[in-house]
Amino acid sequence: METVKQTASTNADMKTLAEQGSVAEGFWLRAVRQSGGVGRLGRPWSSPEGNLYCSTVVDMHENDPAPSSLSFVAGLAVYTVIRSYLPGTEMILKWPNDVLVSQAKICGILLERVKNQVVVGIGVNIAVSPDVEGRLVTSLAAEGATTGAAEFLTRLSDIFEGLLKTWRERGFAHIQAEWLELAHPVGSMMSTSDERGEKIAGEFAGLTADGALRLRKADGTLIEIRAGDISIG
Ligand code: BTN
Repeated sequence: METVKQTASTNADMKTLAEQGSVAEGFWLRAVRQSGGVGRLGRPWSSPEGNLYCSTVVDMHENDPAPSSLSFVAGLAVYTVIRSYLPGTEMILKWPNDVLVSQAKICGILLERVKNQVVVGIGVNIAVSPDVEGRLVTSLAAEGATTGAAEFLTRLSDIFEGLLKTWRERGFAHIQAEWLELAHPVGSMMSTSDERGEKIAGEFAGLTADGALRLRKADGTLIEIRAGDISIG
């Protein structure tokens, strides 16, 4: 584990190391702040001092589950650590890898593939709640928990390692079952947009074997969503 005061993006740094073939699974890079933090779908990730910004890599072995299923491993790991600080607070996992605390976004997870490794980047709002367009946002501090980014990462790296072992040895189905227990219940109304920006609404109908979201539309048809954002309700 290494902590730097500032970098543009821990994911960008890890991608460089992965390109060079010079980073091993289990290594974590943390930055106290980022000057060019990157979010999903090319969005910026505001990264002031006080929150956690970190990245790690996972080696893809021949018999591993699909790389995209690592977003569920990361989401479960972040959920588990936040839960340890906020035992009584309303929390759910939201597809594909969001954690909502009191219905607000508290973290971000970004997976990027480089050769035979996957860079897993995680940002968690510990002390501050930077604006995210169109979203309610919270932080551990705002929810009443006191911890620091370094202590959070110590717990996170531990939990992530254990879940990664489960993912490899017992398969994604096991991770998926744990994830579903903590996510929006089957039958929840949700909506998303297709590639042309048209709204699609339906009931959550579980996940496919590789982690895509299944949505049952009002006319009964089942569709699979593989990328994008969803809104619940
Ligand atoms: C999201 O849009 O929800 C994902 C945000 C991911 C942010 C983290 S912070 C650490 C790592 N470095 C980055 O530049 N992005 C990820």
